[in-house]
Amino acid sequence: MGFWKFFTAVLILNLFWSKPTSSISLSTTELSEIPTKFLSYAKKPEIVNLMVDARRRIHENPEVAFEEFETSKLIRNELDKMGIEYKHPIAVTGVVGMVGTGEPPFVAIRADMDALPMQESVEWEHKSKVPGKMHACGHDAHVAMLLGAARILQDHRQELKGTVVLIFQPAEEGAGGAKKMVEDGILKNIDAIFGLHVSVDLPIGSVASRPGALLAGSGLFEAIISGKGGHAAIPQHTIDPILAASSVIVSLQHLISREADPLDSQVVTVGKFQGGGAFNVIPDYVTIGGTFRAFSTESFMQLKKRIEEVIKAQAAVQRCNATVDFYPDNKIFFPVTTNNKVLHTHFENVAGDMLGIDNVQGMQPLMGSEDFSFYSDVTPGCFFFLGMANETRGKLASLHSPYFTINEDVLPYGAALHASVATRYLLEFESKSHISD
Ligand SMILES: *[C@@H]1O[C@H](CO)[C@@H](O)[C@H](O)[C@H]1NC(C)=O
Ligand SMILES: *[C@@H]1O[C@H](CO)[C@@H](O)[C@H](O)[C@H]1NC(C)=O
Ligand SMILES: [Zn+2]
Ligand SMILES: [Zn+2]
Repeated sequence: MGFWKFFTAVLILNLFWSKPTSSISLSTTELSEIPTKFLSYAKKPEIVNLMVDARRRIHENPEVAFEEFETSKLIRNELDKMGIEYKHPIAVTGVVGMVGTGEPPFVAIRADMDALPMQESVEWEHKSKVPGKMHACGHDAHVAMLLGAARILQDHRQELKGTVVLIFQPAEEGAGGAKKMVEDGILKNIDAIFGLHVSVDLPIGSVASRPGALLAGSGLFEAIISGKGGHAAIPQHTIDPILAASSVIVSLQHLISREADPLDSQVVTVGKFQGGGAFNVIPDYVTIGGTFRAFSTESFMQLKKRIEEVIKAQAAVQRCNATVDFYPDNKIFFPVTTNNKVLHTHFENVAGDMLGIDNVQGMQPLMGSEDFSFYSDVTPGCFFFLGMANETRGKLASLHSPYFTINEDVLPYGAALHASVATRYLLEFESKSHISD
């Protein structure tokens, strides 16, 4: 693909590239009008139809982690129609498009494509046609909004003072699609990255985020605690792993209540406890599993170390042996999602110009996690939540609920925000050095 060869050449040149001397040519007023202009553009029937149609087609055919083949094809077809160059496949099904001059600076906007392995319970015209699979986290809407943004940007490409990179990634839900995208080198020379997630709690037309740590780092653990099974009435001839596992679980809770700084939020939850099958038999072994979360790498690694120590030592107290696996089912750790302070301010300025400052909210960090963190771990990034709630239509079901629905009125907001933060970034920031915290 010619454009990509050019892009790569520019990347190499970029290593020797010095800051341009040209300054921003638009006035503050002109800059502040871009977000409202893009929102009106995104609300045009043609753009709304493009997004609603894409979203519904994706919703009907949900594909789970690393299986987003049809979704990926749909995205490429739409980009082809818009005349946007892209690279594919990246990380199995990922697509990376490019709009603009093909020259620095490079700013990325990202959407995730995967569905969840769960059955949809909403009865509507575009219900999932695949039993046991559903878009219940809004990633169908995320793809549609990024396609809408692609169209807005392509239609305004003469105004772009650099390049917007459109990232469509697979496998956000636990499998670390973003990690694979990063390993495949997509962030090389990207100066900044923005991402969003729909929210069922925030009102439509409003956004929320915060500078610094936004979402927790998270990991899983699974332990097999082995003893020696036997008759429940003759415990002296057994080594009881159920008792040992119970002591382990209680001791794990002390990591938070006694070892962690009360002002440094952390979680350890044991959500899985499997062992035994009869009233009068002590089993040979028990399996427990859970998740742990923290807001700094130090706290996270300390927690990981102590979880292993506590499980092994507490099992030993009861004469059991324990093995601990931190990567069950090939699941991986998610880093903390941290918003770059300068990019967060940029996001607030742009969103404020579009939605009014009252509709740009701050928020507390959430214990949830996002694989956007793999990007923001290595490149300055900013992630924010986009409201979908409209009181007059009743309350929306929560993310990952079988009753989850999208308020499609959100699509133009998402598209316009993506396009505006990127366009304004290119106009206001000349190089990475400007956004170091
Ligand atoms: C624990 O491991 C040791 C060393 O491998 C072994 O001798 C012992 O039998 C094990 N105990 C249990 C309860 O599995
Ligand atoms: C909320 O829903 C009502 C009823 O459908 C609609 O008239 C109104 O425009 C919606 N509000 C927004 C901000 O989308
Ligand atoms: Zn999700
Ligand atoms: Zn999600």
